[in-house]
Amino acid sequence: MLKTNICGVEFQNPLMLAAGIMGSNASSMNWILKSGAGGVVSKSFSLNPHPGYVNPTTVAVDGGIINAIGLSNPGVENFKEELKKIERENNVVIASIYGATPDEFSTLVCEVQGLVDMIELNISCPHAMEGYGASIGQSCDLSHTIVSASKDVAEVPIIAKLTPNVTDITEIAKACEEAGADCLSLINTVGPGMKINIDVAKPVLSNKFGGMSGRAIKPIAISNVYSVYEAVDIPLIGVGGVYTYEDVVEFIFAGAQAVQIGTAIMDEGVEVFSKINQGLEEFMTEKGYASIDEMVGIAHD
Ligand SMILES: Cc1cc2nc3c(=O)[nH]c(=O)nc-3n(C[C@H](O)[C@H](O)[C@H](O)COP(=O)(O)O)c2cc1C
Repeated sequence: MLKTNICGVEFQNPLMLAAGIMGSNASSMNWILKSGAGGVVSKSFSLNPHPGYVNPTTVAVDGGIINAIGLSNPGVENFKEELKKIERENNVVIASIYGATPDEFSTLVCEVQGLVDMIELNISCPHAMEGYGASIGQSCDLSHTIVSASKDVAEVPIIAKLTPNVTDITEIAKACEEAGADCLSLINTVGPGMKINIDVAKPVLSNKFGGMSGRAIKPIAISNVYSVYEAVDIPLIGVGGVYTYEDVVEFIFAGAQAVQIGTAIMDEGVEVFSKINQGLEEFMTEKGYASIDEMVGIAHD
């Protein structure tokens, strides 16, 4: 009943781990999969190791958290070793990659595609990319270039992950679709946001600015999924503030085929996956829905 199929990849249920939360090593991803997630997305990684920002990198605020981790990661070679150790039993493994140039993205696709079912392109990375402006995902042209370069070499479905921090997300979505993206995930964090420590009169985060996630961003994510669903013909994965089965139903009715969960795991623990699956199944039985497919996009006229 909870199964969903995205670009020919079958998920046992529509819940997956969002990039950046517990996705740095095989043991935490195995734990998430054993806890009921249909799939996991790794932490975003790059060709070479990247230190990220110094602490503090996250701070709690009303309605969620603000983070500026800075995409710290040990590089592709290390990540490949972790991906090899994931226990594959009826689950879906997605690698999240980022880079500064088309070549870096296509090299990463070639490096990891033998180990995963799908690849998510983090084109919504908030910090400056050498020679590529502030953020790839804020430009239709750069998004198109990066998706095309990745698709040229891809043998697995490519997901482009979109940022909400743009004037019109549907334009970016259409550029990615035109470039050959198989699927879109949305949204990455909202911002920039800031929290000031009033005792020392300084921003809390070492980077001062960060991206907001958690409950408060859900309405923004829902409206973005709703708008993008009307603009493109490829499947969507909803992300942003999913805590309950009711949140998942909202995303599916708005047009998502599945959802990713990040901040809720920090607040509610890994049990959030089994709790949501159970609630979702009861909701579907009570309302007479036999499959996820028949629920997708029904909030549209
Ligand atoms: C601590 C933290 C680290 C994150 N790291 C990444 C990352 O490496 N790559 C990425 O695409 N998104 C990253 N994100 C964004 C999440 O994947 C997700 O898009 C966002 O947090 C909204 O979902 P949520 O409200 O369920 O957390 C990160 C979010 C948080 C809170």
